[in-house]
This record gives sequence, structure tokens and C-alpha cells, in this order.
Amino acid sequence: MKSSNKHNNYDNIIIYQYFLNYSDNLKDLCDLEMKSIFGFIPRNKFFTTSIYIDPSRSIFIKGCLAILYLENSLEDLERAIRNDQLFYEDYKIRFIKLDDDVKYEDRLKALRAIGFAIEGNFALHNPSIKLALTKINKKWIFGHYIKNDSTWIDRKQKPFNYSYALDNKIAKTLINIAIGNNFNLNVVDPCCGIGTVIIEGRYMGVDIKGFDVNQNVVNKCNKNLKFFGFNDNVKNKNILDITNLYDVAIVDLPYGKFSKTSLKEQTLIIKKTKQIARKAIIVSMDDMSELINACGFTIIEKCFVQKRDKFSRYITNCY
Ligand SMILES: C[S@@+](CC[C@H](N)C(=O)[O-])C[C@H]1O[C@@H](n2cnc3c(N)ncnc32)[C@H](O)[C@@H]1O
Repeated sequence: MKSSNKHNNYDNIIIYQYFLNYSDNLKDLCDLEMKSIFGFIPRNKFFTTSIYIDPSRSIFIKGCLAILYLENSLEDLERAIRNDQLFYEDYKIRFIKLDDDVKYEDRLKALRAIGFAIEGNFALHNPSIKLALTKINKKWIFGHYIKNDSTWIDRKQKPFNYSYALDNKIAKTLINIAIGNNFNLNVVDPCCGIGTVIIEGRYMGVDIKGFDVNQNVVNKCNKNLKFFGFNDNVKNKNILDITNLYDVAIVDLPYGKFSKTSLKEQTLIIKKTKQIARKAIIVSMDDMSELINACGFTIIEKCFVQKRDKFSRYITNCY
């Protein structure tokens, strides 16, 4: 992707149908991200909005349907497509199954009917146009389908990894919570470890700088960045010595359990974060709301990410 919010080819389309996927333990994190990107928390795992964002930006968005037709019946949809003489070369249509009331045979029948209504050629392999059909709340919806490319999976394996490193899916979500839809913000990860957050941010085209107090970790982080084709420009610096001002800081606090730290050090880090950034996303092992408030922040929202395999995290969005 390497671009920001990829410009879409659907400028004349005004409504988009998004399809979400998340496990129960990540529901609150998904809500936080959706609120940052779309400005609201969807009530279901599918929702419509006039805002287009590239589905690949979020680990929670399976895909997005740029709606061309929304009709009361399949017959109405067929008629509308025929009337418009809709024409596509090399297209493929898939059915997005949500309602159990469309049985397998009916889904096939519907796909065939729409296929006959469209003029042009169907392509089974490597279609240039991807279309989708679905039925939601008794309405038949048809349009262009933009699928999540799921490339974060390719960045899971880095040359250097640590037990304390964030899961890159969480890191990607933190970037979205940090920037919303503003790709012009300057972001900092002042305790960047081996660079999981920086890699996800840079992949999305975000201007994100990184620092870490540990030279050995910095060397590994820079090797990781280079491996993915990014500038190996993370600096060895104590957050307390940072003098620049940033729009947002994403701070994955050092945890006493895995690296040497103390509540006093964590307090200094949070206090300093308040001085160097207008807004912060603070990741911690414990609920640090009181301390975060005491350090001068106002908490906008927070969530708890329960993990079975690794340790769980609190994520606090504050300014
Ligand atoms: C929890 S780890 C960050 C992990 C990171 N998010 C990742 O996925 O690789 C915290 C990091 O903070 C660094 N650190 C601790 N105290 C610091 C300080 N005062 N200034 C800058 N970095 C610090 C540690 O060296 C450690 O790499």
C-alpha cells in the first residue's frame, strides 16, 4: 500500500457498505478505531457511511462495497441493471453472506441473474472488476467490492523480535487511533523498542519518528526498518531529552515485568509525553488512568485488550 488513504475510484458513489470482523476480546479496540476513523461506533458488524477509507487500513474491515444499486427485490435490481445497460469487461461477482435467509441455491441463482443482466465478459480468474452482491435488512445491495489486502500478516515476522514487542495488528490499530484520517500529523514513538508501531505507521505513509533509550534495541529496530525498506533513522535517546513537539505520541510504556522500570520512571515518561505531544495513546499493562490524569492528561477514552497467548494491555487515548 505505502500510500495514505488511497484515493478511491468511486468518486461518484456516495454510500459505502463496510463489513467488519473481530473477535470478542478485540471488540473495544475495534470500537476505538472505528470512532477515530469514521467518527462513530458501528452497532453491527456491517454498516453504511458516506466516508470512504481504504479497507486495508484496518485489521477489522474485511471489505467495503461501493454501492451502485440498492433495491427492494432481486427483480428490481436486475431491471435497474438492464435499464442502465451496465457493462463491464473481465468482471467477477461474489455474494457476501450476512442474512441466513438467503440460502445457498438462492445465492447462486441471484448471482446468475445479475450476471445475465450485466453486459460484457465474466472472468473467473484475475478479474479486473470485482463486484459484490448482498442482502441486508431485506434490501438487495450491489456494487464494487474492495477487499482488505491483509498485508500486515507479511510484516509479522521481523529480523528481530522481542517478547515485549506489540502484536503488529495492535500496532496498526494504534496508528489509526492516533491519526484518525489526518495523514499530515507528525507522530512520535519515544519508547519504540524494535519498531513495531513505526513499521506499521510508515507502511501507511505516516510521518513517524522513533527513539529508545537502549542502544542495542535501537540497532535492532533500525535493522527491522531497513528490512522493510524504510529509513533506519531511529535514534538512541531518553524520552526525557526529547525537545521537539509532536502532534501525537504513541507510548508503549516499559513494563517492570519484562524490562527494568519503576513506577517513578513510568511517571516521568508520562509527564514528559505531556510536554512533547498534543495528544497521546498510552499503552500499559495496568490501568494507569489515575496516574495519566495526575500527569496533566485528559482521558478521551480507553480500552482493555485481553490476550490469551501474550500479556494484556490497556490503551488510553488522551490529550
Ligand atoms: C514495551 S517496550 C516497547 C515495545 C515496542 N512497542 C515494540 O513493539 O517493539 C518499551 C521500550 O521503552 C524503552 N525505554 C525505557 N525507558 C525509556 C526512556 N526513558 N526513554 C526512551 N525509551 C525508554 C525500553 O528500552 C523498551 O525498548
